[in-house]
Amino acid sequence: MSNKESWGTRVGLILAMAGNAVGLGNFLRFPVQAIQNGGGAFIIPYLVCFLLMGIPLLWIEWSIGRFGGNRGHHSTPFILDSLDKRSYWKYIGVFGIFTNLAIASYYCYIESWTMAYVYHSVAGTFNGLSQLQVADFFGKYVDIFKSTTGIPYEAVVFFVICLLLNTFILSRGLHGVEKAAKIGMPILIAFGAILAIRGLTLGTSGASPEHPTASAFDGLNFLWTPQFDSLINPKVWLAAAGQIFFTLSVGMGSIQCYASYLKTKDDVALNAVSAGFMNEFVEVVLGSSIVIPIAAGYLGLDWVKENAGFGMAFQTMPFLFEHWGPLLAAVAGVLWFGLLFFAGITSSLAMGTPWMGFMQDEYGWSREKGAWSFGTIVLLLGLPTVLFFNQGVFDEYDYWAGTVSLVVFALAETILFSWIFGMEKGWKEINAGADIRVPTIYRFIIKYITPALLLFVFLGSLFTPLGNDWAGGFSQLFAGNGWVLDNNSIVKQITNAGLREQIAAATDPTVISSLKDKLLYITGARILLLAVFIGIGVLVYKAKGNHSKIKTAI
Ligand code: ALA
Repeated sequence: MSNKESWGTRVGLILAMAGNAVGLGNFLRFPVQAIQNGGGAFIIPYLVCFLLMGIPLLWIEWSIGRFGGNRGHHSTPFILDSLDKRSYWKYIGVFGIFTNLAIASYYCYIESWTMAYVYHSVAGTFNGLSQLQVADFFGKYVDIFKSTTGIPYEAVVFFVICLLLNTFILSRGLHGVEKAAKIGMPILIAFGAILAIRGLTLGTSGASPEHPTASAFDGLNFLWTPQFDSLINPKVWLAAAGQIFFTLSVGMGSIQCYASYLKTKDDVALNAVSAGFMNEFVEVVLGSSIVIPIAAGYLGLDWVKENAGFGMAFQTMPFLFEHWGPLLAAVAGVLWFGLLFFAGITSSLAMGTPWMGFMQDEYGWSREKGAWSFGTIVLLLGLPTVLFFNQGVFDEYDYWAGTVSLVVFALAETILFSWIFGMEKGWKEINAGADIRVPTIYRFIIKYITPALLLFVFLGSLFTPLGNDWAGGFSQLFAGNGWVLDNNSIVKQITNAGLREQIAAATDPTVISSLKDKLLYITGARILLLAVFIGIGVLVYKAKGNHSKIKTAI
C-alpha cells in the first residue's frame, strides 16, 4: 500500500471489508459463545449490541479512517492524531497496530490448521478414525515436540506456509487484498451454504444407538428460542459485546486502515452497513447452521452443550463427516476447512495493513518491505503460540490482544470521535458523500449510548464478580460483604490470581511444576506483547514522516 493507492472498485472494497470482518470468529467463536451463553438467551443481547455498538463503531471507524487517509495517514496513531491537537492520541493509536500484530500471531496459526486439515481431509487421514482418535489427532498436531501426524513439525511447516501466502498477497498491495477478497468471499459463502443446507436438513437422521435422541433440530431450537430473562444478565451482555467486537473487527485498527484508502467523496455510511450486515449474515445464518446442528444431529444437544469449545471444529467435525462415506467426507472436509481458510485469510490480510501503512507513511518503506516485515514479526511473535500452545501462550495473546485491547481502544476512539472531535463534525463526516440517509437517532446513540455501553463492557470486564454472578455480586455488596472479584476479571488476570490459587492448592509435585511452568510461559508471553507495544510506541515517537507537514490545523 502507498499513500496513492485506492480501492479498485466499490464491490472490491465492500468484499475486502466484509472479508476483514468475516473470519474464524464467525464459524468457531460465535457458535461456542452462543452455546455457552444459553443459546436463545444470547441472541437478543447479541443483536442489540450489533445495533447499538457494532454499527456505530463501524461508522466511526470508517469515517475517521477516510478522514485520516485524506490527510495522508493510514494507521491509527496518526489518524487519531489528525482528529485532535493533543499529541497523546497518537500513543493511544498504538493499539491499532499492536492489536493487529498480536492477533495475527495466533490467528494465522489457526488459519494454518485449516490448511493442514484440508490436506488431511483429501489425504484421507481421518478415514475410519473414531471420535476419540480424531480428537487425539488434534492433540498431537498442536503438541509440536511430540507430534506424530506424519509430517515432522507439521504445525510449524503449515504456519510458515500460511505466513508466506499472507505476505505474498500483502506485497501486492491493495490490489492483492481486493483480489483475495473477490475470490475468497464468494467461495466461502458457497461452501458455507452447502454445509448449512446439510445442517438444516439433517434432522433426526443422524441418531444412532449410542445417541438415540440426537437431533439437529434440537441444536437449532436451542439457538433460536429467545429467552428474555437473559436481558438482565450482564454476563451474557459482556459475552455478546465481546463477540460483536471480534467478529466485526472493531476496536482493532484494520477498518480505519482500509477506509483510509477511500477518496474524500466516497460513501462510508452505506458501505459500512453493507459490510457489517454481510458479516452478520455469514455469522448468524451460516455460522449457526453448521457446527451446532451437525454436532447435535449426531451426538445430541447435551453433548454439544458439554463440549462446546473452540476445538470442536477440529476435534469433532472430521469425525462427523465420516458418517457421509469416505468420498463425501473428503469433500465436506475441503468445504469446511476451505471455508475456514478463506474466512481466516481475508481477515489476517487486513491485520497486515496497519503496520504496512504506518511504516510506509512514516518511514518511507516500500510496500514489499512492509509486507515482509509484517510476515517476519508475525513469525517471531507467533512461534511461541505454536511451540507452547499447551502452556497457555495462545490464550494469553487472545485475552490481552483479542479481548481486552479491542474494548480499550474502541472506548478511547469513541470518546475522541463523539466528544472531542465532536458530534457536529463527526456527524458531518459520517454523512459526507453518503448514499443512504443515516437515521438521526444514531447521532444520539453514537454520542451517548455507544460510549455508555463500551464503558459498561470495560468496567464489567475489569471488575467481573465472583462466578460472573452479577445478582449474587450485588446482593453481597448490599449486604456489606464487599465486591468479590472473579479470577477472570481483568484486575485478577493481571496478577494471575487464578493460576496462583491453583498452584497453592495443588499437592502433586508434577502438577505444581507444570502449573509453575505455565506461569512462566504466560509471563514470558506478556513481556513479549508489552515489548511489541512499547516498540511501536517508540516508532510512533520517532516518526518523522509527512504528518507534521500536512496536518491540518484543528
Ligand atoms: N473479524 C475477524 C473474525 O471474526 C477477526 O475472525
